[in-house]
Amino acid sequence: MLESFLPLHPRTVHFPIALTLVGVAFAALGLFRQRPQWIAYGQMNLLLGWLGALAAVATGLFDQSAAPQTPEVLAVINQHISAGIALLVTIGLALYWPLRNKRLWSAGRSRWGYLALLLLIVALIAVEGWLGGRLVYGLGVGVH
Ligand code: HEM
Repeated sequence: MLESFLPLHPRTVHFPIALTLVGVAFAALGLFRQRPQWIAYGQMNLLLGWLGALAAVATGLFDQSAAPQTPEVLAVINQHISAGIALLVTIGLALYWPLRNKRLWSAGRSRWGYLALLLLIVALIAVEGWLGGRLVYGLGVGVH
């Protein structure tokens, strides 16, 4: 029964990727155009993206146990895990920072710092997806 749902992980990665990217886009546009409402939409999407990424980490760790333990696969999985954890930390920071600094949106330097953080999140998503693709399409992980 459970076998028909395996691998679980690929079913759970699309929502966090999409929600986080939409969150970054709204937050960045809101910052540039000084629209607090857009920033609020961005934060809401980032929160959902973070929760989705947490679920993706859980299913990824579950699927990983069925992956072949060759040095090549393990090397890519380790990089994939590092990027996944970095994603959780950076999205978490993008949610926490505005709570700590209420003047974030108006203060010049912290605004640019926040934008750099948003760009880092986009870069990490690209790396995470690329490494995941290497696992599946390059090394045949999760393909039965
Ligand atoms: C940090 C813990 C994670 C582990 C241990 C992990 C493990 C894996 C494994 C084993 C695969 C190969 C397919 C499978 O057997 O399921 C995979 C693919 C993939 N992973 Fe992860 N993953 C993790 C986190 C994430 C996160 C946070 C994301 C993005 C939100 C992500 C995105 C992907 C993508 C896009 C693929 C390719 C799926 C496909 O093309 O079918 N992973 N991952």
